[in-house]
Amino acid sequence: MTIMMDEIREEPRSLSQTISHNKDKAKVIAEILRDSSMVYVTGSGTSYYASVFLSTLLLKSGVPTFPIQASDLNGAVFSDRFSSPVNIIFSQSGENIDALSSMNFSKSKNIRTIGITNNPESTLARNSHVSIVTMAGNELSVAATKSHTVQLAISILIYDAMNSHLLDKVISNASSLVERVILNDSIVKNLGNKLKDHVVFLGAGLYYPLAMEGALKFKETSGSYAEAYSTREYLHGPIHTLDDQTSVILLRTNENNDNSVIKKISEIGGKAITIGPYDSDITVPQTDSIILALEYLSVIQMLANYRAQFKGEDTDHPRFLSKVVRE
Ligand code: AGP
Repeated sequence: MTIMMDEIREEPRSLSQTISHNKDKAKVIAEILRDSSMVYVTGSGTSYYASVFLSTLLLKSGVPTFPIQASDLNGAVFSDRFSSPVNIIFSQSGENIDALSSMNFSKSKNIRTIGITNNPESTLARNSHVSIVTMAGNELSVAATKSHTVQLAISILIYDAMNSHLLDKVISNASSLVERVILNDSIVKNLGNKLKDHVVFLGAGLYYPLAMEGALKFKETSGSYAEAYSTREYLHGPIHTLDDQTSVILLRTNENNDNSVIKKISEIGGKAITIGPYDSDITVPQTDSIILALEYLSVIQMLANYRAQFKGEDTDHPRFLSKVVRE
C-alpha cells in the first residue's frame, strides 16, 4: 500500500468537506468575476491543470479568461489596458515560488488576487486579496491527488455560483460517486499492470486538463514517458508515434468526438483504452459531464499509482522531486 493510494481513498471526505465549507465563498468569487474584464488563472504543474479546468468553466460562463503557468505571468504577457483584472492563483502548498511570483507580480500591477490553497497558514492564503481554503487535509505523498480533486471541486462551485446553482444537487452527490469509483478499483489495477512503457492520454474540452494531469502523474510516479493531447489533436501528427510500446488512454467526451479517433487507432493496429460512463474498458457512474471530471480524475490517479507499484517505483518519494518547489 502507498501513501498516495491512502490519500486517493480520502478523496470522498475531502470533497464533502470542501464543498460544504466553500459554497458561500464561491458566491463571493462569482460576484468579483462578473465585474472583471479579464481573469488570469495561474498555477504550476498539477495546479496549472486546475487553472485550465477552471478557465474552461469560466469561458463557458461568459467570462474572458486566460489560463497561464504561474511562472509566465509577467511583463511579457501583461497589458494594463484591462480594467479591474483578476488573477486566480491555485497552489496546494501556497508556498511554491512560482505561484508566489504570480501573486507578487499581480499585486505590483493592481491585479486583484484570489488565492486557492490547501494551506490556510500559507503565504498565498495570508497575502491574497481574497483566499479560499480547500479541505483536503494534510497531503504527504509528493504526487498531488486529493489536493487536486478539491481544486476541481472549488472550480465547479464557482461555476455553479455563476450559473444559477444549476448543479447544486449533483455537486452534493459528487463525494459518493467518487467513493464508488475508488471502491471499484480492481479493473483499474489490472489495467495499470498491463500498460506499456509509453502512455498517451487523450481528453477533449473540460477533460483535456485531466489528460495532462494523467500524463504528469505517470511521469512523476512511475517514470513512464507520458504525454497528453486534446482528443482530436492526436490525429494531427502525434498518432505517427503510435507503436507496440504505446498505450493510449482515452477519456470519453462524446461519441462524435471520440469514435473516429478510436477507429483510427484500431486501423493502425493499436487499441484505445477507454474510461467513460458507457461502453468503456473502465466504466464509471453516469452523471453530469462536469461532475464526471471528478470520477475520471480518481481513475487516472489510481492508474498511475498501480502502474508505479507494478514497476517497483518508490511511488511516494520520486527521485529529484520535492513536495514544494521553493527555488
Ligand atoms: C503534482 O503532483 C506535483 N506535486 C506538482 O506538479 C505540484 O502540483 C506543483 O509543484 C505546484 O505545487 P503547488 O500546488 O503547491 O503550488
